[in-house]
Amino acid sequence: MAAKPTILLTRRLPEAVEARASRDYDARLNPTDAVADGAGLLARAEGCQGLLVAAGDPLNADTIARLPQSVRIIATFSVGTDHIDLAAARARGIIVTNTPEVLTEATAELSMLLILGAARRAGEGERILRAGQWSGWAPTQLMGRQVTGKRLGILGMGRIGQALARMAQGFLMEVHYHNRTRLPPDKEQGATYHADAEAMLGQIDILSLNAPGSADLRQWLNAARIARLPRGAIVANAGRGNLVDDAALIAALRSGHIAYAGLDVYDGEPRLNPGYLSCENAFLLPHLGSATIESRNGMGFRALDNLDAFFAGRAPGDRVA
Ligand code: DGY
Repeated sequence: MAAKPTILLTRRLPEAVEARASRDYDARLNPTDAVADGAGLLARAEGCQGLLVAAGDPLNADTIARLPQSVRIIATFSVGTDHIDLAAARARGIIVTNTPEVLTEATAELSMLLILGAARRAGEGERILRAGQWSGWAPTQLMGRQVTGKRLGILGMGRIGQALARMAQGFLMEVHYHNRTRLPPDKEQGATYHADAEAMLGQIDILSLNAPGSADLRQWLNAARIARLPRGAIVANAGRGNLVDDAALIAALRSGHIAYAGLDVYDGEPRLNPGYLSCENAFLLPHLGSATIESRNGMGFRALDNLDAFFAGRAPGDRVA
């Protein structure tokens, strides 16, 4: 019987995923979930044929160039690949796969949670309760904004943006979107397409960022674009932190031009601009987009499906490099 391929799981993964990995591979697990820097990752990858990595792992050009020759595939436990230098992987002939689809609904739910949590001041309410400062119901207490019937603009109408649009219909929202390409009518489902994202900003009450964090969108939501949103608009970001110019958003939250923001992702996370912490009108979550047991199992199984295909000599379904 041929030896099982050796794979490194850079992070602790859900139990069922680790059980399958250990059954089918010589799997190096990370029971303490210790986060490795580039050098640590290289040391642990020694002798591995495959890497099962996660968002935040430092797979930049330098680390990829120095990976052991034995490494032939990197399967990331994420749909986003911004932590991996894909060009460097291609240059080394290392295949890269991701995990689309399995986290679509969970991340769209989280986008809706950001919108609702921000608009209904859920974070402020919880902070008051936990601090023992709630003196009882009051007619003017924590009045937020209703989202039902509002105009929602979605930047990035991929799978997650489309799932959010479907959910928004349940709230009778008027959905607008900007995407590189217009969707066919069956996927558009009545949403209004804006070829010019700037033009969309003046016509919405709530902006949800659901685009990937690609270099061309870095700090896309800057002061100029924020100024195009109507005063009192709400911003939600479940895409990537680098889509936002933090200083500009914090200034707008302080001035009230942006009434509320709901954020799940941060430029340079796990660090975040400390300015957000003093904005009571910011509803802040720690990158929970795909954090459901259903999604996280799905992501792990999908990453293993890709590894299985590769080691069986087939083309992995989710190849991105
Ligand atoms: C992804 O898959 O890219 C997420 O951001 C990690 O949950």
